[in-house]
Amino acid sequence: MSKPSAPVESYAELLKQGNLVVFPTETVYGLGASAWNPAAVQLIFNTKGRPADNPLIVHISSIDMVKQFTDHVSGRARVLMQKFWPGPLTLVFKKKARVLDAVTSGLDTVALRMPDHPLALSLIEHAGPLVAPSANKSGRPSPTRPEHVYSDFGNRIPLLDGGNCDIGLESTVLDLSVNPPVILRPGFITASAIEDACGFRPEVFSPKETDSPFQPKSPGMKYTHYAPKAGIRWLSEKDITLLNRQSDNSRTLLILHEADIPLEEPLRGLRITHFKGDYRRFARELYDCFRKADIDEHREIIIEPFSTELMQQDELIGALHNRISRAVSK
Ligand code: TXA
Ligand code: MG
Repeated sequence: MSKPSAPVESYAELLKQGNLVVFPTETVYGLGASAWNPAAVQLIFNTKGRPADNPLIVHISSIDMVKQFTDHVSGRARVLMQKFWPGPLTLVFKKKARVLDAVTSGLDTVALRMPDHPLALSLIEHAGPLVAPSANKSGRPSPTRPEHVYSDFGNRIPLLDGGNCDIGLESTVLDLSVNPPVILRPGFITASAIEDACGFRPEVFSPKETDSPFQPKSPGMKYTHYAPKAGIRWLSEKDITLLNRQSDNSRTLLILHEADIPLEEPLRGLRITHFKGDYRRFARELYDCFRKADIDEHREIIIEPFSTELMQQDELIGALHNRISRAVSK
């Protein structure tokens, strides 16, 4: 991890004065503002170009801070906090009346998470609870490296540099305000891990079956994002024939993870990234692949699909599938 150029306290001071600060977490970089400062919270929406109906996650550094935001902590919630915090699990609770409407986009619930990163925890200890969406412009992939943040915002927002993020996919969001609880966004903490901890296995929410267009359960999930400028699609048999035939593949990136694709030489400039069954690395590098494809001016990204068996074997692959599906060109 690279050393921050100024002490954490000076970044905390900026936050206390109502400024935004970008900080590292174990998942992706967050664009932080003091959770109790309405003007600073509003600044997040303006800076990102974020729709006002997409609520923010409050980041805390101790379980004691939970009571500032909710009175509804069940025994099950307590078990999950003790087992997974700090870590990439966001919990949604019925909120206290005093939580700012701008934070929750007017919902009666609030999302809380304790990030597993020493710089994030230290920043929150000094500055108090922080709301922090991923530190990207709305519609861009979440940033997993400082250079991703600079590419979206230049260097106008102070950034606490923690090097590259370890997990690379945004936290699992588990809604505990409904019965039975439901996973609104799959991530590194899986349904099985939650079941092992508390004896209850939550379903992963599927917008197609139950969502109403007027009242989406997880507002963020209705927006297409994570998308690079290049078109993205899943690899099909047709593509293999096409890639073998085409005279110039130099503006195509092929992402593989399992298959030995029968590609004939010469590949005519085709770029291949092969994760060779290392799904932790795939998750860590997915958004960087998307952003590099833009820098390299790729026209298309073709990704080997995941089989149902594979997704059942390893639920992190289900989370990868979720993020890629949302980036696939409509
Ligand atoms: O890993 C992460 O969670 C990162 C890092 C920075 O902590 N943050 C992040 O924030 O991904 P953001 O704003 O990009 O995504 C927050 C997600 C959105 O899908 C939003 O709709 C959902 O959490 N969310 C926030 N509050 C909610 C609530 N009260 N009820 C349901 N969903 C909520
Ligand atoms: Mg985001």
